[in-house]
Amino acid sequence: MKFKTIIEPFRIKSVEPIRPRTRAEREVALKNAGYNLFSVRADDVLIDLLTDSGTGAMSSQQWSGMMKGDESYAGGNSFYHFEAAVKKITNFKHIIPTHQGRAAERILFRSILESGDIVPNNTHFDTTRGNVEYRQATALDIPIAEGRQPQTYHPFKGNIDLNSLEYIITENKERVPLAMVTVTNNSGGGQPVSMSNIRQASEICHKHGIPFFLDACRFAENSWFIKMREDGYRDKQPIEIAQEMFSYADGCTMSAKKDGMVNIGGFLALNDDKLAEKCRNLLILTEGFPTYGGLAGYDLEAIAVGLLEALDEHYLHYRIRTAEYLGEILNREGIPIINPPGGHAIYIDAKTMLPHIPQSEYPAWALSLVLYLEGGVRSVEIGSVMFGLQPDGTEKPSEMELVRLAFPRRVYTQSHFDYVAEVLVHVNKIKEHIRGVRIVKSPDVLRHFSARLEPAHGHLIKSIVK
Ligand code: F0G
Repeated sequence: MKFKTIIEPFRIKSVEPIRPRTRAEREVALKNAGYNLFSVRADDVLIDLLTDSGTGAMSSQQWSGMMKGDESYAGGNSFYHFEAAVKKITNFKHIIPTHQGRAAERILFRSILESGDIVPNNTHFDTTRGNVEYRQATALDIPIAEGRQPQTYHPFKGNIDLNSLEYIITENKERVPLAMVTVTNNSGGGQPVSMSNIRQASEICHKHGIPFFLDACRFAENSWFIKMREDGYRDKQPIEIAQEMFSYADGCTMSAKKDGMVNIGGFLALNDDKLAEKCRNLLILTEGFPTYGGLAGYDLEAIAVGLLEALDEHYLHYRIRTAEYLGEILNREGIPIINPPGGHAIYIDAKTMLPHIPQSEYPAWALSLVLYLEGGVRSVEIGSVMFGLQPDGTEKPSEMELVRLAFPRRVYTQSHFDYVAEVLVHVNKIKEHIRGVRIVKSPDVLRHFSARLEPAHGHLIKSIVK
């Protein structure tokens, strides 16, 4: 290539204005929201990096596909378009649409798990964990050791620990009805899993007669990392890599809100006829008839197009470069992040950045509030507010205190990311002044969504230079 700038591989046909608020306005917004960014109105946010889930921009192809939406209750054409696209990529026999990823999880686990069972995974996402625990089963996270060390470089930090997997299955044979691998490993920093790790995990499961499933939300991004980092894949197309990944699995759960490039949708896909029948019966009970599964026909059309767009090389190149680009700036500025950056987000290591804030005062939560207050950037805490509350009501600090800045697909341009970097550099300069927070009111489960907090020492930032 003659030119080295990696451009956004699209042009913009429709725009949505974003309007800055003043710092004083954001201060009021924060107070009114009980110092919880989930309770801040989107209009009061300048750059919204809360999640990459369902927040992407659809293409003109997807929008025009939606006009073909067949809204028949049963047997609509849109289902067959959707099914063909999913089959082309995964080659699974049964394709069951759901309204989003967690619905696929709930239906699968309701059909396969009993109380006392164990599900090994590299790292369960919080809804996956929630749905396993809802069945009174144990969600066991077994990433490789490097996956728990923010600063240690490893090309496939999302890999599952194969020795632990083998050990858990051998020791608890009757109690492991399936094992899973999440690609990419969201809760572990959006880190990829190698093809050889997926293949070996699958071999271990199959040796013991246990089905192996992928949580496939970011399968396209994972395919790109394999292409770039694993021997033997450089000349393969992302779709071929994805097909090989799925070939090792017996099924997958999928939130199409990520690499399906849509605002809503998901699916469960699997090979086992009996299990599929059980899942479809549950689907009818709570989601809808198996040819729409809680989605409109036009949603199925948008997924059918989006899944293949997510595998486009130019798109993936730009997509992964975005995280890398922001990561390079932050590394240069000495802001501690999970390295190397993952696919869909940058994760700031708040424990290292703010060592003066004890975990009991939620350093990552405090940092996410300050990013909003100072620059209008919304991120999400993945730390002790999210994970610290144990099922028995006790508090246990989480292993890492992270702030995730997740990137909606095809929404923000390079100047938006330059702005985000500037905000982070500024906040890094005033980091010694940042103070912790405490929880004032909290629900018993998934408390991060609705808890109310307040500054633990009267203010978020002490003697701030405005
Ligand atoms: N699995 C993973 C790895 C996820 O990241 C998510 C969602 C889900 C399952 C559940 O899918 O939201 O469609 O029900 N992650 C979003 C996030 C919410 O912000 O990372 P869903």
